[in-house]
Amino acid sequence: MSKSQPSTAQKNLFYIGARVDENTLAVYRDEPVYLDPKDLSTHAMVLGMTGSGKTGACLVLLEEAILSGIPAILVDPKGDLTNLLLAFPELKTEDFEAWVSVVEAKRQGLSVREYAEKVAEAWRRGLSAWGIRPDRIRALKESAEIFIFTPGASFGTPVSIIHSLNAPSGLSWEGEGEEVLRDRIRGITSALLSMIGHESDPVRSGEHILISNIIEYAWRNNLDLDLASLIEYVKEPPISRLGVIEVDEFLSPKRRRRLAVDLNKILASPSFESWITGVPLDINFFFGEGKKPRVSIFYVAHLGEREKQFFLTLLLWELYSWMLTQPGASTVRNIFYFDEIYGYLPPHPYSPPTKRPLSLLLKQGRAFGLSCILATQNPVDVDYKALSNCGIWIIGKLQTMRDRNRVLEGLTSVFEDQGASLDRQTLSRIISSLPPRTFVLHSAKREKPLVFRTRHLMVYHRGPITKSEVQKLTERQKELLEPFIVRPKLAPRERVAPTAAPRPEARPLAVAKVPPIANYYLNPRRGLKDCLEELKSTFTGYEFSASSGGPVYHPALYCMAEVYVKRKRPKAEISFTFLRLIPLDGETIDWDSTQAYGVPADAISKEILSVQPKEAGEMASLPPILSDTKGVKLLKEQFLWYAKKQASTKIYYHPKLKIYSKPGMTKEEFTQTVQQEIETKQKTEERKIDEELGEKERQLLLEIEEKQTKLEEKKKK
Ligand SMILES: Nc1ncnc2c1ncn2[C@@H]1O[C@H](COP(=O)(O)OP(=O)(O)OP(=O)(O)O)[C@@H](O)[C@H]1O
Ligand SMILES: [Mg+2]
Repeated sequence: MSKSQPSTAQKNLFYIGARVDENTLAVYRDEPVYLDPKDLSTHAMVLGMTGSGKTGACLVLLEEAILSGIPAILVDPKGDLTNLLLAFPELKTEDFEAWVSVVEAKRQGLSVREYAEKVAEAWRRGLSAWGIRPDRIRALKESAEIFIFTPGASFGTPVSIIHSLNAPSGLSWEGEGEEVLRDRIRGITSALLSMIGHESDPVRSGEHILISNIIEYAWRNNLDLDLASLIEYVKEPPISRLGVIEVDEFLSPKRRRRLAVDLNKILASPSFESWITGVPLDINFFFGEGKKPRVSIFYVAHLGEREKQFFLTLLLWELYSWMLTQPGASTVRNIFYFDEIYGYLPPHPYSPPTKRPLSLLLKQGRAFGLSCILATQNPVDVDYKALSNCGIWIIGKLQTMRDRNRVLEGLTSVFEDQGASLDRQTLSRIISSLPPRTFVLHSAKREKPLVFRTRHLMVYHRGPITKSEVQKLTERQKELLEPFIVRPKLAPRERVAPTAAPRPEARPLAVAKVPPIANYYLNPRRGLKDCLEELKSTFTGYEFSASSGGPVYHPALYCMAEVYVKRKRPKAEISFTFLRLIPLDGETIDWDSTQAYGVPADAISKEILSVQPKEAGEMASLPPILSDTKGVKLLKEQFLWYAKKQASTKIYYHPKLKIYSKPGMTKEEFTQTVQQEIETKQKTEERKIDEELGEKERQLLLEIEEKQTKLEEKKKK
């Protein structure tokens, strides 16, 4: 084998390092270690104490993956995966100078230039010793687009989560999909509630159950949700009961209002803007589907713990749904790398919202060619059950006995599951004394674990990058990504309570088109000519003429719903048409309105409407909610809840008499019916008794009569 540089025969393999003697710990650079990317499809877990070189090892894997054209999504809680962008093919001192740590230079008593020269030299020598030539760094740079995204902040490119509450594609409510969708809903609900400081129990918390039910209702009905409409639903739930309990009894309107206020705090916070303005959370985009492979780094170092959980829950579920839409694969097509998994995949009984989607990715990723690479320095706090799907284990130095024991214990059960065996004693001895960048590679495929040292990185793995450095690093990217950024048109607060425009100002005639709604015009009841005639007849002797304009057309919303209720028990079959006509010239939308500008809703028929205005005139402006498809959708949804709410009827029941009230009956009417029923029953009973008694009396009388006749006959004799 040629010295270190991967030979052409191993072209399709990942060159990750060189063998190390497990006893002497000597590095054999002329014995390169390769990894077949196919093996990576069973995922990789990298463990080791801080500074052991875990991130470096993962970046080596990524460099190889990028060179093979495999796109990746990276979660970067510490901020050092951004180092992937620090690739300098010429390895010039100036390249490094801009990025070396000033503090470290000072600590070493060097000027920044001197320190940069020292680092550049270390990289030149390191790479040369591992047989890596500059053209490989160039190839690395050209193989993929690497982007950094900064969720919830605009110092990099932010991500818009606005569509994250939309009904997900890729999963159906039938079969196993139902359970997964419910898990996703539970996860998103927990993450959302945790954002507003409600640590909720999915089973017992009323708030949790209400929100999950609302999301389920929306998703089942293919309604797209966002935070604003969710808040509306919390105030006015679209479902009347949860299980067998009325919503109001379950979570009082007061508690619902409080929850809505708390949720609204997220909407109203100035930082929310940066959660909805950004590149949409679209996995295809992040992998660069159909284009040059893309590596998307999600820098989350700036987020608080709750925000991290919130965002990562959304990202992980999005990734999982995306994965299910992919065709089956026998090799690795995409990589998902999560550095510092600690806290996101903890053992039982902990269950943060990120755990379920992570476990599902590990369990099913292989079939879809999605490889997960996970790393942690806290081996005690990961769920080995979820990791039983990991085929590759890269274990660096573990100093404490506790950590070593936990890893060996976990690995024993994992390997037993996979039908492989583990030499605990040897492994324990090796991992207690490994130097940095030296790891034990254990895979289900290898009979014996292999000790290796990671090859030198091509990128300058400097360590965590600060916010201002991210800004500097992403200036050019931001320009490239600008066209993909979505900026919701409606300010979130406006959307919480959709209101019509204040007093509409007249503007020149323009046929306002709102895409999902048909536009019709009523003929003016009194045209310009009529008005002039009227003025002339009132003020005789005067001349009147019109100097401008014509009628002003004012907007109104015509809403119709066909309501049909059919139930077996209590038997009910109701159907009616639900009609509303709402003028859009006030402060709010009055759903109870049945007339607009003096025209009653039931007077509207196709015959009196025209597609174009009959007489030229002016057009009062439309309220902002009608200015885009989303706003209109929201209005439609609201009308639907309103109609449903209005259409729901209480049915009263008398358990002893086993009778139900008829739909639409008031309680008083039902009480009267019950009383009438009781009276009828009583009368029937009385009549029956009367009849029975009457019969007995008649028989007795007959008997008496008979006896008397007999007595009299006897007397006569
Ligand atoms: N393959 C490598 N090539 C060159 N330098 C490396 C390599 N791996 C690690 N290093 C160097 O070692 C330092 C520490 O390694 P790394 O950040 O990978 O450790 P870690 O185990 O991820 O630590 P932590 O748990 O604190 O995140 C890096 O900043 C880098 O300078
Ligand atoms: Mg690290």
